[in-house]
Amino acid sequence: MKRPVAMLAATAHAVPTRVFTNDDFASIGVETSDEWIRERTGIGQRYIAGEGETLTSLCTEAARKAMAMAGVTAAELDLIILGTASPDRLLPATAVEVQAALGASRAAAFDLDAACSGWLYSCQVAEGLIATGSYETILVIGGEVLSRIINWRDRNTCVLFGDGAGATIIRRSTKQRGILSAYMRSDGTLADLLQRPKGAGACPMTNEILAEGSHFITMAGREVFKNAVRSMADAADRALDGAKLSSTDVDLLIPHQANIRIIEATAKHANIPMEKVFVNVDRYGNTSAASIPIALSEAQAQGRVKEGSTVMFVAFGAGFTWGSMIVRF
Ligand code: UT7
Repeated sequence: MKRPVAMLAATAHAVPTRVFTNDDFASIGVETSDEWIRERTGIGQRYIAGEGETLTSLCTEAARKAMAMAGVTAAELDLIILGTASPDRLLPATAVEVQAALGASRAAAFDLDAACSGWLYSCQVAEGLIATGSYETILVIGGEVLSRIINWRDRNTCVLFGDGAGATIIRRSTKQRGILSAYMRSDGTLADLLQRPKGAGACPMTNEILAEGSHFITMAGREVFKNAVRSMADAADRALDGAKLSSTDVDLLIPHQANIRIIEATAKHANIPMEKVFVNVDRYGNTSAASIPIALSEAQAQGRVKEGSTVMFVAFGAGFTWGSMIVRF
């Protein structure tokens, strides 16, 4: 096992105030049911951003909480990396808006788009930068306001997603604590299976695009499902191999929260019983890059992750992107 160079010092989360239940879809004319959504996905409700709630405001709230928990001031932040696929503006990066809101004047800031793997990718970038010796304290955020980029008339997608942000302070590791293994992969040949087809650089926005809604997320659900199961299983194997650990060494698995059936398949493949798997997809839906840090924040608050815990993270998202990480807390 390598000596960890970076540790996750504190994680916190923030969600919008409005809860949108499965039954609420009837009120906006979406033909679906609580039974269908729960059975196929495990989702019961999600949080949806209202007026005045933005990616910047959610990320800033989560970041402030994480900084307070870690005892880190804005002036101490060297870098802010925001994993997101739903920025507030197309230019500039939302990370700089968070920097301004926090008053982190010394920090560099950028967004990283690896879709649902965004937080996991960002943690690994942070680890690499800490290893160079140039960075001490990095704020990594996974945040999304997906409700503004989904098609609320497409029942194949609109029932799946939710909004929120999770923020983690990553610092140079002091003891034998921190990131023990890290793995990232992508496969761009399958990019069309989960995408926003039009309305950006290759196909600039027109009235037609707006009318047909092809700037919203589209997904080939069954294909994405199969790839998610395969890739998350592979990522779990790589995480254990990289840390030279076996599944019995893992105290908790925190997988990306897209679908309870994908989570169960990943746990089964990794030979980890469901009692050792953190699940909150029922209350948040799929919050993409925010899903793992929100889950970690809750797991720590519930005492399921404490000092000495060995936790495996596994993510999968559009791109496709996927990856894993084992962390000793
Ligand atoms: O974050 C990573 C990316 N996302 C994912 O990991 C999601 C991966 N995919 C999935 O989770 C699943 O494929 C879904 C939950 C999206 C769909 O579940 P499924 O078991 O694969 O259903 P399906 O696509 O095979 O659709 C079954 C039926 C269809 O009807 P027909 O064609 O069989 O008559 C759909 O039209 O269910 C219908 N359907 C719905 N019915 C009620 C699709 N969406 C809904 C809905 N309510 N919301």
